[in-house]
Amino acid sequence: MTKLFLKPNRIYSIVLSKHKYSTAPKSVATVRIGDKDYPSDEYTNVTPKIISYLGRNLHLQRNNPLSIVRQRIVNYFYSSFTHRGNPTFSVYDNLSPIVTTKQNFDDLLIPADHPSRAKSDCYYVNKDMLLRAHMTAHQSELLKSGLDNFLMIGDVYRRDEIDSTHFPIFHQVDAVRSQRKDELFHDKPDLEIFEPIFDPKNPHGFINSINDPMKQSCHTLEATKLMEMQLKNHLLGLVKVLFGKDIKHRWVDEYFPFTHPSWELEIYYENKWMEILGCGIVRNEILANAGSTNTIAYAFGLGLERLAMALYKIPDIRLMWSTDSGFLSQFENKDINAKITYKPVSVFPQCVNDISFWLPPNYTIDTFVSNDFYDLVRDVGGDIIEQVRLKDKFVHPKSKKHSLCYSIIYRHLERTLTQVEVNEIHKQIEKAVVDNFNVTIR
Ligand code: DAH
Repeated sequence: MTKLFLKPNRIYSIVLSKHKYSTAPKSVATVRIGDKDYPSDEYTNVTPKIISYLGRNLHLQRNNPLSIVRQRIVNYFYSSFTHRGNPTFSVYDNLSPIVTTKQNFDDLLIPADHPSRAKSDCYYVNKDMLLRAHMTAHQSELLKSGLDNFLMIGDVYRRDEIDSTHFPIFHQVDAVRSQRKDELFHDKPDLEIFEPIFDPKNPHGFINSINDPMKQSCHTLEATKLMEMQLKNHLLGLVKVLFGKDIKHRWVDEYFPFTHPSWELEIYYENKWMEILGCGIVRNEILANAGSTNTIAYAFGLGLERLAMALYKIPDIRLMWSTDSGFLSQFENKDINAKITYKPVSVFPQCVNDISFWLPPNYTIDTFVSNDFYDLVRDVGGDIIEQVRLKDKFVHPKSKKHSLCYSIIYRHLERTLTQVEVNEIHKQIEKAVVDNFNVTIR
């Protein structure tokens, strides 16, 4: 993989159509994404398949592991940084993935000939627009809008090899934390963010060099080191919240066009070092171009899939896209900090049969113990019971009788069940429920 430096519902589709305009006899090819047409050109390489994933927003879907990790990360930043009781960071998790090459590259000082711009690595809509290759693509515009501390969370798109850990779409959390002199050095007012030779009011009259591995030439060493220390502490704090305080880690020097100095954080996981994030001190040109002339900032970007796969032991990245309830139910209604270990779901199809019954007069829908029912279902059905879920509660308006409906989801681990054999077991379960709980099947 090239190191780039390293609305719900499917509303997107692609139509590669030729529009004919009566005034201009020339036909114009376009790409349709959502309800918008974009002119296509020799750069266009987004495919209908890729476009069909836009809007899935896995990072916002209830019970998706990516969404759980997102919530844990956001909670960490919300609770670690507050200002007069309010969270310091604002969160942007619904920004459109269609961005300009200026946003994705130029604003971040990525050179015109940088390999990360290659058609072979990106999904271009046309020569000026692409599906964002990283969440850092929004850094500049959010800085320009006046924000200092923010998280950007969303889906990113890269053409890549296909294997159990790579998928052309994945999810990132990217962030910026900026500080003014009075914030960074509140207890040492004689220290400065900028070197005396640099005039922050006139940033363009200075060539900000990154030749010194320790710092950008405009910054003082004190400011850079203090920011580096905070950056590393904050990110290590996050990793410890996620993986436990004993997690082994190391910092590796890196190069990114948009930060200097830059690092990667690796954690030791399943007998090897795994890179989980990139970070660094934001290049002052980016801040100055966005109108932030009196701050120093750190930034980082991390991948949600890697974290979720490691945390929950999910063996294949494609599972993140699963809509199979056998997968999603494993992450359902749990405390987001609970330890969850994914259990492989059978590849054979599910059979779903419902069971509804009237409770005996001495029971109500609130006093009937569902867990007793679940145990009985499992006793009778055995291992082919994958899930049992309460589907409906009902009190008859006239008779005042109470009734419950459960869905029982059957699945065999080694073979496809036939509906006939499932019906047979379902009948046995109905009989056992009648015998044990004195209910009446509806
Ligand atoms: N955008 C980088 C990537 O996708 C990761 C990254 C590195 C983000 C450093 C940052 C940063 O915000 O400061 O590989």
